[in-house]
Amino acid sequence: MKERIRLGVLVSGSGTNLQSILDASRAGKIDAEVVVVISNRPDAYALERAKRAGVETVVIESKGFATREDYDRELVKVLKKHNVQLVVLAGFMRIVTSVLIQEFPMRIMNIHPALLPSFPGLHAQRKALEYGVKFSGCTVHFVTEDVDAGPIIIQAVVPVYENDTEETLRERILEQEHRIYPQAIQLFSEGRLKVEGRRVRIINCDEPDNFKIENPVVKVV
Ligand code: GRF
Repeated sequence: MKERIRLGVLVSGSGTNLQSILDASRAGKIDAEVVVVISNRPDAYALERAKRAGVETVVIESKGFATREDYDRELVKVLKKHNVQLVVLAGFMRIVTSVLIQEFPMRIMNIHPALLPSFPGLHAQRKALEYGVKFSGCTVHFVTEDVDAGPIIIQAVVPVYENDTEETLRERILEQEHRIYPQAIQLFSEGRLKVEGRRVRIINCDEPDNFKIENPVVKVV
């Protein structure tokens, strides 16, 4: 069996992305295992998911830390204690600092529910709807000190429909998040991600020969 890389997953909320990673790991679809799940919120449902999967959980609340850097020093301590090789942000609602980033350079991934560099920050689905884009999607990227601006690993596109609400768009995007996050982790595990400046080259990647995205998605006479 291939060596499995050790993941530390950081969460704050419901943890559906965490679940997709746990499932892919258990099914042997990725050569990676989640060794610790860290939450800044004690009530995050993601913690239940981790426990159910038999993964160790740690809660580090913001209170008690004077600065973001102090908080991140504690994060680093826990991640190192578990010999984490890749840090996976999965709905972690905190901005991370250079304290964490310098310990794990190009070894921290995040998933964002928009096609970056469009709609960074909070409420990406709402911003996409309000702007009126016809496609949106999600982005897995390496984390650098600029929020939602690190080198892009994988993106997936979804259409925005006429009658979409923030919720329906969120669901459509989430489905793709659950597909591409495990893929990105697997590419990392296989050592196939090569960062060249802003670009992440995927080593040995075949180009599809019949790729088509159409707009509008309904027939207009
Ligand atoms: C996802 O939409 C992700 O893109 C964003 O936060 C949300 C987390 O959802 N970063 P979940 O906790 O994984 O269900």
